[in-house]
Amino acid sequence: MQSRAHQLRCEGRTIAFVPTMGYLHEGHLSLMRTGRQRSDILVVSIYVNPAQFAPGEDFEAYPRDMQRDLDLATSVGTDIVFTPDDDLMYAEGFQTYVHPERLGKGLCGLSRPIFFRGVATVVTKLFNIVRPDIAVFGEKDYQQLVIIRHLVNDFNFGIEIVAGPTIRETDGLAMSSRNAYLHTDQRPAALSLFQSLQQARALVQSGEHDAAKIIDAATRHIESFDQTAIDYIVIVDPDSLADLTIVDRPARMALAV
Ligand code: PAJ
Repeated sequence: MQSRAHQLRCEGRTIAFVPTMGYLHEGHLSLMRTGRQRSDILVVSIYVNPAQFAPGEDFEAYPRDMQRDLDLATSVGTDIVFTPDDDLMYAEGFQTYVHPERLGKGLCGLSRPIFFRGVATVVTKLFNIVRPDIAVFGEKDYQQLVIIRHLVNDFNFGIEIVAGPTIRETDGLAMSSRNAYLHTDQRPAALSLFQSLQQARALVQSGEHDAAKIIDAATRHIESFDQTAIDYIVIVDPDSLADLTIVDRPARMALAV
């Protein structure tokens, strides 16, 4: 992959890169279409990265279907699908990790302390192997997107990070490989996330600027469904991810339930 990418760059071709963990869906494909439009060569990686799973998380159970993924990636014009294995990515003796500081500690980092270290490490490796001109990431994983932007800046990668909007099912559920875990009777509860985001936006638009009140409304809505457990709901500055108490400028509500 590294020498092929080098050869392509020498031929003067620009490379767009979309890293994934596979089990592709329309969310991934939309990022690929963006990359496809913006460069000569589109590289997609498929690798379920063990370093971002803690013991007891779903590494073994994570859904996988390589043939289907290769067909889907090809269908949107991917030139190269890079599918490294653990021996290549974490060979014996591997010991160097990339550790995001403050940004990796809040939000999802609270309940998943090694998660963003695993993400930043594997993305650093993938960036060094592919050395793309641009890389496309989804807003669905907003904290990850912000951390990658900082990673590229902090380590002078010289890669343009492009964000793609969250793609949803027709009922509003954000597409996710892990939706395969949802039973149909859990669907209404899962939809409470999107509903609470919409409710928050409507509240702000109708003049409510008190973040605590907006979060409180979201909490009540989500808790009205059985089978939900709130990890966190925050309203943050889009760049620093610092909590906002007054929503008087562009803001993001982030939640894990
Ligand atoms: P994965 O969950 O497979 O997601 C790969 C990319 O697709 C990420 O940039 C993610 O934000 C984006 N994505 C997922 N669902 C989306 C949706 N519904 N709409 C838009 N984009 C969506 O995120 C990872 O893998 C890994 O952490 C990775 C970056 C590959 C590092 O291992």
